[in-house]
Amino acid sequence: MEKLRHMMNPLDFTVEELESLFDLAGEIERDMEGYSHKCDGKILATCFYEPSTRTRLSFETAMLRLGGKCMGFADASNSSAAKGESVADTIRVISCFADICAMRHPKEGAPMVAASRSSIPVINAGDGGHQHPTQTLTDLLTIRSLYGKLSNFTIGLCGDLKFGRTVHSLINALSRYEGIRFIFISPKELRVPDYITEMLRQKGIHYEEVIKLEEIMPQLDFLYMTRVQKERFFNEEDYIRLRNFYILDKEKMALAKEKMFILHPLPRVNEISVELDDDPRAAYFKQVQYGLYVRMALILTLLNIK
Ligand code: CP
Repeated sequence: MEKLRHMMNPLDFTVEELESLFDLAGEIERDMEGYSHKCDGKILATCFYEPSTRTRLSFETAMLRLGGKCMGFADASNSSAAKGESVADTIRVISCFADICAMRHPKEGAPMVAASRSSIPVINAGDGGHQHPTQTLTDLLTIRSLYGKLSNFTIGLCGDLKFGRTVHSLINALSRYEGIRFIFISPKELRVPDYITEMLRQKGIHYEEVIKLEEIMPQLDFLYMTRVQKERFFNEEDYIRLRNFYILDKEKMALAKEKMFILHPLPRVNEISVELDDDPRAAYFKQVQYGLYVRMALILTLLNIK
């Protein structure tokens, strides 16, 4: 019997395993029809204790496109969590119904607790300000598709680097590739957490922290913009003060390299002007499409379906 495998963190897969996953995602993109019955009879549960548009619908579409079915909840207030049920008990129940589960939770580590009690694969679909591994798979696949490689880049990460779980996961994942230089662009209140800069120092990976986006634009090979995470702030005053700290517009993009792509995990609030949506370097909606292929590939991999 195959060992039960979960996806809690992008580092759960080796670089070689990620390459295989991305190759499979590429095959799925080229031949969607060929994969349309791979999950016949399988059920995906989506247990979302926090709001989502892309991740939940992308997982559900992925399973439907593979021929499987979906069930779950998008609002924990309609589940027995509202009566005090623990995620450990919930996943034991879900394990009786479904073959695989994608879980989003506001508490860091909650999907990990679920995985430890589960008899089906559990995928962390975002836990608090901690990790968002399938967004990272999406980001890596997008970068690989745009540049044909995942090494030797200068990447700017801009915005809420403190609470942005997509940023934490992406730095973790990219830190395993050669020649990556990180430039962290944030107000001082939203700097990347110390445990991440400590990890980079220990690995000898270049990083710098700046406040002004314009200063470093000409150096970047791509720019990962993020929204200020309103839901993680302790007071509204701070959020209001910081929410429009960065707004990427045509004027700032004029300082960028001709091929500097813009990525964003979405949802966007105000940090990328809509006037850039038609710029050929705006890759954030392409990212969403890649997210579907890579989640299809992940479901097949965790279910051991060839
Ligand atoms: N990128 C992302 O996680 O989007 P949702 O919150 O809409 O799922």
